[in-house]
Amino acid sequence: MKKYNSFHIEASCLKRISIFSKKDFVEYAGQDAGRNYKILGGGSNVLLTSDLDCDVLINKIKGINIQRETDEDIFVEVGAGEMWHNFVMWTVSHDLGGLENMALIPGTVGAAPIQNIGAYGVEQKESFVSLKAIDKESLKERIFTNMECMFGYRDSYFKNAGKDKFFITSVTYRLSKNSVPNTSYKDVSEWLASRAIEYPTPNDVATAVIDIRRQKLPDPAEIGNAGSFFKNPIVDQTTIDVLSGMYPQMPSYPLDNGTYKLAAGWLIDQCGYKGVRVGNTGTYKNQALVIVNYGGATGEEIKAFSEEIQQAVLDKFNIRIEPEVNIW
Ligand code: EPU
Repeated sequence: MKKYNSFHIEASCLKRISIFSKKDFVEYAGQDAGRNYKILGGGSNVLLTSDLDCDVLINKIKGINIQRETDEDIFVEVGAGEMWHNFVMWTVSHDLGGLENMALIPGTVGAAPIQNIGAYGVEQKESFVSLKAIDKESLKERIFTNMECMFGYRDSYFKNAGKDKFFITSVTYRLSKNSVPNTSYKDVSEWLASRAIEYPTPNDVATAVIDIRRQKLPDPAEIGNAGSFFKNPIVDQTTIDVLSGMYPQMPSYPLDNGTYKLAAGWLIDQCGYKGVRVGNTGTYKNQALVIVNYGGATGEEIKAFSEEIQQAVLDKFNIRIEPEVNIW
């Protein structure tokens, strides 16, 4: 599995099977109803902590197909096995807006709705129309609308009641022909201002995001990682009042419902864990929220290190940070 997970963990599975179409999946799953298998897209949000006693299906369903068009929008159905970043590059090369802030996120299109990926002030749910999935039990196709996916911050139906129940085959996005890019995020607006770009195109924003990400985040091709290891915690007003009294510099972002999102990276950094190395693992030098494999780390080793960080944050701030990465 080493080449199929962005942490580059050595682990085996029974069989690795590429799925290129709905038919491939139905044929595989139909052979034996009680069959135990796991589904993987780009392997960029998973930590393998042991060998897998089951088959692993790699989703390779491809295709970018325009479904319909209005004066304002284009609806595009994308194969779940397309690489997300390649699809984002396709959108900006057609001057279509909506996904540009999420350039360079590793992984596949089919994985994007599962954890409702997001970056630089935009989440995929804002452009998401629907997805098609095959029910693993009945092997019937189902369409999920945006509402039915119950998207939240790094969350969806597919991480809760629908967990492990579906094989996603395609996702449809609505892309805008005349969108006003979201440049609310300081890093992005500063990047554009420093180049005197006043009216950025989707491609300009994608270029900015790619540049910013390359500076802050390690490239999984060079150093094993799965992006942010933890989710940013969401806390209530009382907690914010107490903590911001103690730590006036602490970043926090108000949400619609009166709660606040804290920066897990900042909390970890404050515990002295930025750029720390323990054995073959550690946190990245430019972003404490990213745990890396310096080479040869086991999944267990990374998991133990993540628990050490979790405990340090709990001890110092009385806040429990939860993994964003799926631990297998
Ligand atoms: N910070 C520190 N020290 C650190 C890291 C961060 O002080 O080591 C501070 C930063 O200075 C900033 C704040 O924490 O004030 C937030 O940091 P940043 O802007 O880097 O964003 P983040 O909250 O750490 C989230 C996403 C990233 C996404 C960025 C940009 C999550 C879990 N992570 O990170 O997503 O790229 O915002 O939008 O929501 C991912 O999910 O894998 C991922 C990389």
